[in-house]
Amino acid sequence: MAEEKNHLTKTYHDGNLWSRQERVLTEDKSKQDSHRVAVSGDVEVSAYLEIAEERRGEQPQAEPEERLAPEREAVVIVDFGSQYSWLIARRVRECRVYCEVVPHDAPWESVASLRPKGFILSGGPGGVYDPGAPQAPAYVYESHLPVLGICYGMQLIAYQLGGKVTPGVKREYGLAVLHQNSVDTPLFAGLPPEMPVWMSHGDRIEEMPPGFMSLAYTDNSPVAAMGNDEGVIGLQFHPEVVHTPQGKNILKNFLYEMCGCTGTWTTGGFVAESVERINNQVGDGRVICALSGGVDSAVVATLIYRAIGDQLTCIFVDTGLLRREEGERIDNTFQKNMKMNFIHVNAADRFLDKLSGVVDPEEKRHIIGEEFVKVFEEEAARIGRVDFLDQGTLYPDVVESALTGSRAVATIKTHHNVGGLPSVMNLSLVEPLRYLFKDEVREVGLELGLPEEMVYRQPFPGPGLAIRIIGEVNRERLEIVRSVDWIVMDEIKNADLYRQLWQSFAVLTPVRSVGVMGDSRTYGYMAAVRAVTSEDAMTADWARLPYELLARISNRIVNEVPEVNRVVYDISSKPPSTIEWE
Ligand code: XMP
Repeated sequence: MAEEKNHLTKTYHDGNLWSRQERVLTEDKSKQDSHRVAVSGDVEVSAYLEIAEERRGEQPQAEPEERLAPEREAVVIVDFGSQYSWLIARRVRECRVYCEVVPHDAPWESVASLRPKGFILSGGPGGVYDPGAPQAPAYVYESHLPVLGICYGMQLIAYQLGGKVTPGVKREYGLAVLHQNSVDTPLFAGLPPEMPVWMSHGDRIEEMPPGFMSLAYTDNSPVAAMGNDEGVIGLQFHPEVVHTPQGKNILKNFLYEMCGCTGTWTTGGFVAESVERINNQVGDGRVICALSGGVDSAVVATLIYRAIGDQLTCIFVDTGLLRREEGERIDNTFQKNMKMNFIHVNAADRFLDKLSGVVDPEEKRHIIGEEFVKVFEEEAARIGRVDFLDQGTLYPDVVESALTGSRAVATIKTHHNVGGLPSVMNLSLVEPLRYLFKDEVREVGLELGLPEEMVYRQPFPGPGLAIRIIGEVNRERLEIVRSVDWIVMDEIKNADLYRQLWQSFAVLTPVRSVGVMGDSRTYGYMAAVRAVTSEDAMTADWARLPYELLARISNRIVNEVPEVNRVVYDISSKPPSTIEWE
């Protein structure tokens, strides 16, 4: 499996990992140009509702909520702008410890309710002596809880507690060998005396603060890890990245051996806790939910259904722009199997009428978004009294909005999927996934008994096949792209590659070319196959699919779809291309 993945993936470390700021700026620009949503899954529903909301000048209303059950353990990650803060949080959660990322200037009141058992200070792009360099809040040290500073976080500890940091003679970037000093520390419990670690820093510790000792060194850093008797630790390397193979054990040691965590963060516990919280929030109110067939909305709906049963009504707007059998699958899961209150709105005619003659991708998006909101509002109005709307907001969206101070960025972020509801309905939000990462959402989906096929579904854009048909969208072209897409999906699944790929799909181009079939000349469409690997859709690489697989896909398409006589494979990466063609 791992080998296959290597075959498909060109790694993006070294020069190609963008900093958070670069990513936000790039995204910022692309969002000014379009309504593209650059995150995975089924964000489209809430994004549409939100865009409608913004046009009306409304703000979403989030319900205040009690964040943690009394017995839950938590660690707080203080963010200094590192591209790796998310990874730290994910690794901590993988150790079954709940954590939240907070901005470096978060007041104590905002973290107190988490009742942290320790703090992790992230890396950051600058130096601790830079003008305006962010500092760790005083409560981090005054709490007397264990603290783990990573890279910039370590330099801050040195700087704030009375040590000295200087620009390193040589920038240390990449792999290094960490040698443990002969100091007994729980941080390295069970780990070998020498380990490969990933370094990425310019500054280094010249003098440790009083009471600290060096726990490990590398060729270029005499103090690659330091600690004091109170459980304050600094690491010059990044334990959260895969290039530090023992990094997760180091984090686990910090969490378990130093913070005293025991690993109580489980999906079963999350489901039980969420059910209780939803019940408390909703009482005997009524909730509506916009189902798209994507992972997030499916999991939210199922979780809410588990909590309040028939007080929930799901609305599935079938735009006619979905892939083959998608609508039936959603009906089967939610209506037939789970027996939810379920409204399937067949709105294909409305969408196709509005799209008639439209070729501009942004116009397509705009029309589909507006129509979606109209249909949704009409259906919701038929239900009668409704009090709440569910949202599939995920943790990265919530916190990225909180971490990025600028208003401009925050607004762009809300296009992703934070909040938003039709104003005429005056509803409150139920957002049970707002503290979960995507992987955790999948785990919760499985825990709730959703089919694997739905839980591991690749992201599918809100405007659906409309942006995979270059040029005008009509029923005939939709049928062609559906047939081609079906073959691509089938073969990718048969080759057991579906889950390794971020997305794999077909595009129908308006290009027609000459071919020969039997003794006759054909003049058919050219279809393109796109398959990409990616971590987060911000960057993506074309997948190195085996030639045999490409040959099978191509053969099947030209044989089974009579309108297509030529197949090409898209070998462009993002950037500069995008994943979708429109
Ligand atoms: P691009 O094409 O910008 O896509 O590289 C990045 C990710 O976003 C998805 N995408 C969309 N999702 N509405 C959505 O809900 C859209 O308008 C849209 N455009 C692109 C795309 O499938 C990929 O996962």
